[in-house]
Amino acid sequence: MLHKLAFIGFGVVGQGLAEILRDKREELKANHGFEAQIVAISDWNKGSLYHPEGLDINLLLETVQETGSLEAYPTSQGLKRDWDSIKTIKESNADTIVEVSYTNVETGQPAISHCEVAFTSGKNVVMTNKGPVALAYQKLTRLAEQHRVQWGFEGTVMSGTPTLRMPQLALVGNQMKEIRGILNGTTNYILTKMEEEEVSYETALKEAQALGFAEADPTSDVEGYDARYKVVILANHIMNVPLKVEDVSCQGITSITPELIRTARAEGKRWKLLASIKRGEEGKVVAKVAPEKVDLADSLAGIKGAINAIAYECDLVGTVTLSGAGAGKIETGYSLLIDLIHIAGNKQKVVM
Ligand code: HSE
Repeated sequence: MLHKLAFIGFGVVGQGLAEILRDKREELKANHGFEAQIVAISDWNKGSLYHPEGLDINLLLETVQETGSLEAYPTSQGLKRDWDSIKTIKESNADTIVEVSYTNVETGQPAISHCEVAFTSGKNVVMTNKGPVALAYQKLTRLAEQHRVQWGFEGTVMSGTPTLRMPQLALVGNQMKEIRGILNGTTNYILTKMEEEEVSYETALKEAQALGFAEADPTSDVEGYDARYKVVILANHIMNVPLKVEDVSCQGITSITPELIRTARAEGKRWKLLASIKRGEEGKVVAKVAPEKVDLADSLAGIKGAINAIAYECDLVGTVTLSGAGAGKIETGYSLLIDLIHIAGNKQKVVM
């Protein structure tokens, strides 16, 4: 069955998914029976297009990459322009909304409203925006359930590295006693550069911004807020604990000086910004984000640069560690493809 998609936002991540759908069209059809068609794009800055019979992916990418806008996309019979995000979600014939809008990390808006409108209109949502999942997981999950639609957000933690599906599918039957991870690439990059090349904090941060993985406002990275959102998502979705953002203590890396880094090295240790969730006695859960001096023998000590890693401590199989990309155009675009393929193949589950 052809899976019709409406993109809300068409920035780096949305274009990453569109490139994958263009380049892997035949492979996805032959190997997974998965066929997708983009019927709409609504981007507050680049403009909007809707055609119920589908838009040409190659032309969309060429137009936006050459002109920075969708205005020059050729007009044809039945093509509508200028539909805003809400109209596109409500009135287009899409099966699934690809929610990759520019969203305020503190309020989760407008992405939370986009999810609400999509679910109540009977449409699935796949997204990489962390805010709505961290701030409204319980509410949005219930809403998706009520309307019998599906919600995927694999890319909210470690982009296309399957941080959410691996424990849910491959580690099924275990109870997670603890999750520890390096969940923010910007801060890991800064700490690695400060240690290995002895560059200043400011220089390392500028490099991370130039490489494109720092948030629009890097305060969210360096103060640990980005990692804290990811902790909340993991607690709710993987450990089934309805943790809220304010339940997670949070400290970033701004107090880590070159002197502290040298001292740790002399002790055979290394500073890492660790995110953790631990299930204690009587089910009490403690979650935090904080810089820690980890022993070089620790599986997380060797994770360098912008790479992320996560260790799941399971009651049956012991500790399983997963490392991989935590950001990137194609990597994060791919996380949306994982959600889409699962949605297309599973008509029963609500939260993918
Ligand atoms: N700013 C984030 C990071 C991007 O540095 O890891 C992915 O969430």
